[in-house]
Amino acid sequence: MSLKKIQSMHAHAEKIAMLTCYDSSFAKLSEAAGVDVLLVGDSLGMVLQGAENTLSVTMEEMEYHTKSVAAGIKSCCIMTDMPIGSYEHDKDIALINAKKLIAAGADIVKIEGGGKMVETAQHLINNGIPVCAHLGFTPQSVVQLGGYRIQGKTDESAQNILKDAVAMDNIGINLVLLEMVPAALAKLITETINATTIGIGAGVDCDGQVLVIQDLLGIYTGPANKLPSDFKSPRFTKNFLAENTSIQTAVSAYVKAVKNKTFPALEHSY
Ligand code: KIV
Repeated sequence: MSLKKIQSMHAHAEKIAMLTCYDSSFAKLSEAAGVDVLLVGDSLGMVLQGAENTLSVTMEEMEYHTKSVAAGIKSCCIMTDMPIGSYEHDKDIALINAKKLIAAGADIVKIEGGGKMVETAQHLINNGIPVCAHLGFTPQSVVQLGGYRIQGKTDESAQNILKDAVAMDNIGINLVLLEMVPAALAKLITETINATTIGIGAGVDCDGQVLVIQDLLGIYTGPANKLPSDFKSPRFTKNFLAENTSIQTAVSAYVKAVKNKTFPALEHSY
């Protein structure tokens, strides 16, 4: 039902507000504040565990946090990241792991990348698992991509991302998440494919937006072993707590800003 609601919102051009969530307290608060989709992101490796990136996150951890989030909600849609190593090498192993995340409470799983991952996504969809494809900057490939860099800046790279989005759309993917791509490219993809697009650093024209809750609250200051003064928040983040008096009102303000298209503004886009 919750995924059907997201599809219906897309059909009615209502913007979708997605937020990361890793536990039941924030799940309850976020659902009450009007968040449409809770993303149990493998960003938990960074914002909860203090790691440099998402590469050490395990299936067991994703199951644990998905169960915790599911315990806190009534009917909100839950999307869970498939962690690195759980899906890229073998599509049957991907299916076994996706089923574990669904059993833990996820409505939809997210995998990173296009290309060979289209076949994996197809296998999951054929077996009844709703899938989101994460394209553009894909955090699990941070090393191969040479760091946290905007993707799709050259014609060739933009064409490749568009091609991947269309290929995913053709196999019936439910959602496409676009991270750190030029706003114009995200707009073109959103207008081209049937699947719902969600952006982070991808401009205001996606069908919805996602933020990491710690960025929304302005409390993430980089990896545990680095000084906060050495950390610079990415351009696409916004501290909503700075102009609100509680976590609840900050999350509500984020939802409202997504719905009325005031977030992301140009200053948060590429
Ligand atoms: O893991 C995560 O939180 C994500 C977001 C950055 C979209 O994938």
